[in-house]
Amino acid sequence: MGRTQVAIVGAGPSGLLLSQLLHLQGIDSVVLERSSREHVAGRIRAGILEPGTVDLLLQAKVGERMLSERLVHDGFALGFAGRSVRVDLKGLTGGAVSVYGQTEITKDLTDARMAAGAAMIFEAREVAVEGIDSRPTVRYLQGGRVHELRCDFVAGCDGYHGVCRQSVPRESMQCFERGYPFGWLGILADVPPAAQELIYSNHERGFALCSMRSPTRSRYYLQCELHEKLEHWPDERFWDELRRRLPASAAAGVTCGPSLEKSIAPLRSFVVEPLRFGRLFLVGDAAHIVPPTGAKGLNLAAGDVRVLYQALAEYYRTGRENLLESYSEKCLRRIWRAVRFSWWFTSVTHRFSDDPFNHRLQLAELDYLAESTAALTSVAENYVGLPFK
Ligand code: FAD
Ligand code: DHB
Repeated sequence: MGRTQVAIVGAGPSGLLLSQLLHLQGIDSVVLERSSREHVAGRIRAGILEPGTVDLLLQAKVGERMLSERLVHDGFALGFAGRSVRVDLKGLTGGAVSVYGQTEITKDLTDARMAAGAAMIFEAREVAVEGIDSRPTVRYLQGGRVHELRCDFVAGCDGYHGVCRQSVPRESMQCFERGYPFGWLGILADVPPAAQELIYSNHERGFALCSMRSPTRSRYYLQCELHEKLEHWPDERFWDELRRRLPASAAAGVTCGPSLEKSIAPLRSFVVEPLRFGRLFLVGDAAHIVPPTGAKGLNLAAGDVRVLYQALAEYYRTGRENLLESYSEKCLRRIWRAVRFSWWFTSVTHRFSDDPFNHRLQLAELDYLAESTAALTSVAENYVGLPFK
């Protein structure tokens, strides 16, 4: 039987970042990941980092490449009714966001963990968590054999479909959920971005988002039906639809090209309470999901990791459990604010039905935003990330 201080289930950004930060505090961990290393490295997901996430990556000593390759964005545009309004993040809050792909973060973290000789077990199947009330054990299948890992704590960093949350009795937790009647169809293409900054566009045909990964790589999203099929969206149809949903100046800036990746993601809000069950802590998407509008998911995950690694460091340094005890409450406050912002941003930018009243309300809200510094400041401070308290 193996032994470690913290067993981390999941090698997404939460699990990798937690193991790296714990390592720098002299705390030992083992990361167990269901998929292969290549599969984890290839997933195209988040792209926008709040300053707090950037700071945490620097603390984790994995920020060097990010600092040289990221694009710093001082603002973004909101398109609606043929207009375009700039949200001046820098001017309104003093802050800015960084464009740097989740794939790159995962790569930087995996490289750093590998270089430190970390214990990372990929393709660990049938992971099962037991004994979370006293002496946790994580069992898994690898190479045709069942392995057991004893630990002091388990960090459930295994995403929304993971096993950790499911190993807690239903009656010990409360789940809050909201589904949205649409998804996002995303593509990645090696073409220059339509504009220098991101554009979130409300259009009567549905929402569209222009994002990027670098000056030569663009990421675009279109609101789509929940059960849309990728084969119904050849590249030409995607580009045509994108241009129809953007303000004219942005549409003129779109360069078309073959897609490198195309995928559909459903939108949902989900929160579990609490985040701690004895010696099991849920972290990141395992504990909460937000619709992607506003780019909060990865940033929230990083926020949880920050609170948990500090609590574990304090515990191993002093034996005190006070920070472990406040983990859930502290994270949930921030989580619910991000759930609110992501829900709001989704509500004002997406097409919900053929209800013209609703569409007029959205336009009125965006029109109000365009003319109110107070309203824009509220959007900007949520977008760059609320402070940690
Ligand atoms: P995950 O990345 O889901 O990682 C969980 C890991 O656990 C996976 O590697 C999985 O294979 C593994 N796992 C699952 N089950 C098991 C098991 N039983 N045993 C072992 N391992 C297991 N967020 C932002 O902040 N900004 C953005 O711009 C943004 N854009 C997004 C765009 C899209 C289209 C999508 C889908 C998401 C976006 N997000 C964004 C959200 C962001 O990608 C997630 O919040 C982030 O990946 C969460 O990281 P995580 O490590 O908690 O979970
Ligand atoms: C991206 C994703 C988002 O959800 C968002 O709000 C902004 C950008 C992206 O993948 O680039």
